Amino acid sequence: MAMATQNYLLCATLVYAAAILINPIACCGHSTTQRKLLFVFGDSLFDAGNNQYLTTGMKVPSCSFPYGIDFHNRSTGRFSDGLLVPDFIAKFANLHLEPPSLEPGANFTDGANFASAGGTVLPSTNYGGPLNLATQITDFKKVFSGLKQKLGKDEAKEVLMSSVILLSMGGNDYFSFNMKYPNSTVAQMTAYMHMVIGNLTNDLKEIYNIGGRKFGIQNVGPLGCQPGLLALYPEFKGTCATKILSHAHMHNIALSFELMKLKRELRGFKYALFDFFHALRDRILYPKKHGFEVGRVACCGSGPYNASFCGGGYDGKIAYNLCSNRNEYVFFDGAHNTQRTNHQLAVLFWNGTRDVSRPYNVKRLFDLP
Ligand SMILES: *[C@@H]1O[C@H](CO)[C@@H](O)[C@H](O)[C@H]1NC(C)=O
Ligand SMILES: *[C@@H]1O[C@H](CO)[C@@H](O)[C@H](O)[C@H]1NC(C)=O
Ligand SMILES: *[C@@H]1O[C@H](CO)[C@@H](O)[C@H](O)[C@H]1NC(C)=O
Ligand SMILES: *[C@@H]1O[C@H](CO)[C@@H](O)[C@H](O)[C@H]1NC(C)=O
Ligand SMILES: *[C@@H]1O[C@H](CO)[C@@H](O)[C@H](O)[C@H]1NC(C)=O
Ligand SMILES: *[C@@H]1O[C@H](CO)[C@@H](O)[C@H](O)[C@H]1NC(C)=O
Repeated sequence: MAMATQNYLLCATLVYAAAILINPIACCGHSTTQRKLLFVFGDSLFDAGNNQYLTTGMKVPSCSFPYGIDFHNRSTGRFSDGLLVPDFIAKFANLHLEPPSLEPGANFTDGANFASAGGTVLPSTNYGGPLNLATQITDFKKVFSGLKQKLGKDEAKEVLMSSVILLSMGGNDYFSFNMKYPNSTVAQMTAYMHMVIGNLTNDLKEIYNIGGRKFGIQNVGPLGCQPGLLALYPEFKGTCATKILSHAHMHNIALSFELMKLKRELRGFKYALFDFFHALRDRILYPKKHGFEVGRVACCGSGPYNASFCGGGYDGKIAYNLCSNRNEYVFFDGAHNTQRTNHQLAVLFWNGTRDVSRPYNVKRLFDLP
């Protein structure tokens, strides 16, 4: 395995060197080809390992081996057998994988990852350990001050303006609301959704005010279709738990209108809205269409849908199954995709057509000045 790790690092170095050769820094007169970095905000779908470095609050959730079995063969804090969507996006953009912002001594030359498993938009649904979006923005400001010290204020802002910001947020907000209020009315669900969207909008504006211009936003996934949710709602065997699914859908419709509004209001604001909801739901319902065998049962875990305790739970002592062919499964654990699924999703986000990533895709965001 040490060999595989070395090979990986070597490949990454070569890719980086190639990028330098193709994109010479100095070019046309006094304007220079702008370095474009990647900054990642989000929940467990995007967390490259920040939660491992949290010292305060509850250490939730944990992810130990076999998480990471297909990437370094050890847990890196990512909730998958291997890489996540932002990792693949970084590779497609010829950047190094963005390190967790909390990793001691991390190299932020290509950007940083602020995401945190369990992360929410609303501070009130946060259980103390994970970093909610506002906290992630605070961490972003720290990394950005480092960039200002290195490049000067104006140059750093220019770099940020041409860099891409990825975000995956909201799933945990809706999950916790629906667990707490299973009998909520449509009016209560709508009011909550407006609160999430209102806070998310303010957070996006804050990143814009610092200098962020290019936003790659993944909408909320098909909550209610994942093995973990199906295990909680056994009556929806074979379909999806409808109420929580409709809450996620409601959010996604509002999000798409809110982003159009932000584009009108904020000069230079550009975005790629990735329809993660439908892309993942299609893979769960019709796995074979996408080259998978199993859509609804997790590769790693125990209990109904093998949706729980991948890695053995907090103390690692609970028995669990691990499927022999990870490539046949959409889900690695009850709520998180396999690396293969993440790769497919990242390609759609990167260069998908307008039905899945709109109005731009992430590649186009990188290509724009
Ligand atoms: C991967 O790690 C596991 C657990 O530490 C170990 O049992 C296994 O032998 C390793 N596999 C390889 C190919 O190194
Ligand atoms: C989209 O990007 C992926 C990853 O770089 C690449 O393999 C694929 O060929 C691209 N597809 C199109 C249609 O450009
Ligand atoms: C950070 O990474 C870049 C790109 O590989 C490299 O040029 C630079 O020397 C690294 N910085 C440190 C402090 O390791
Ligand atoms: C929700 O409604 C069901 C059926 O009416 C009832 O059994 C349950 O106790 C209610 N749950 C809560 C948390 O109020
Ligand atoms: C943000 O969320 C809080 C609850 O945490 C809520 O009171 C507030 O109204 C929300 N803000 C907006 C702009 O919706
Ligand atoms: C859980 O995984 C084991 C081993 O892969 C498998 O035999 C079993 O059928 C799975 N459970 C469910 C509910 O599919």
